[in-house]
Amino acid sequence: MKENLAIFTKDLKKKYGEIIAVNNLNLNIKSGETYGLLGPNGAGKTTTVRILNCIIKPNSGEGKVYGFDLATQSNKIKKHTGYLPESPALYDKLTAVEYLEFVGELYYLPKELIMSRSEDLLKLFQLYERKEDLIEEYSRGMKQRLCLCAAIFHDPEIIFLDEPTSNLDPVGSKMVKDLISLLSKKANKTIFICTHLLDVAEELCNRIGIIKEGILELEGTTQEIIALKDSDDLEEAYLNIFGRSKFEDLLFWRDNKIEK
Ligand SMILES: Nc1ncnc2c1ncn2[C@@H]1O[C@H](COP(=O)(O)OP(=O)(O)O)[C@@H](O)[C@H]1O
Ligand SMILES: [Mg+2]
Repeated sequence: MKENLAIFTKDLKKKYGEIIAVNNLNLNIKSGETYGLLGPNGAGKTTTVRILNCIIKPNSGEGKVYGFDLATQSNKIKKHTGYLPESPALYDKLTAVEYLEFVGELYYLPKELIMSRSEDLLKLFQLYERKEDLIEEYSRGMKQRLCLCAAIFHDPEIIFLDEPTSNLDPVGSKMVKDLISLLSKKANKTIFICTHLLDVAEELCNRIGIIKEGILELEGTTQEIIALKDSDDLEEAYLNIFGRSKFEDLLFWRDNKIEK
């Protein structure tokens, strides 16, 4: 593996029957980068991040995360990485405090550290007042914030976030963006974000990879992608890659219907 790469993959491929969800993916992400994997629904982002977190195995190809091999060193990888899944499974009958205690124990953290860190994070994420309530009573945004607490609880070097601001209201979304920015700039973490949201990619990521039907089409800074696609902004570049809806077709269809 090349030096200093937090995430490295070579020709990763994952198939589901006939569907090639990830097609020969090559990633070279340096330590300290905030990388955004950007693409529409079904492009292969979640599949990629699940492979990188050793939840599923690729059909072929190889990779390393924090210098450890995806195929043989999953336990070592998990020690150094945090993961916010797209659809997290929480334990509804636990309180936030109990849940974080459980997460801390999974990482063999000392009891005092678990208690103090849990208190700090719950305050930071504005969950402290509700910390003794059952998770089933939380709103979607509160659950997402709790999952973020869990993802960073053991202070991992690499943090994977799958659609971190989806389903959050503007205040929740801003809070999460500020946190990501802080982790990246002040704590020098490597952050890998999967998103279909242009604002998340543009505001937070040093480098963006655009994925379409499992293939990494384009990589670069926002400015590089805009220039490569001869566009004025990231939205235009994105639409040039993925196409625009032709609503004129709908009018034509309606006209035909009326004619009879
Ligand atoms: N467990 C699965 N079984 C079958 N097909 C799947 C499964 N997970 C993902 N896919 C398919 O793989 C493709 C990529 O999906 P996904 O990685 O979830 O994309 P994204 O996160 O970019 O929306 C889609 O066509 C999706 O339907
Ligand atoms: Mg997804």
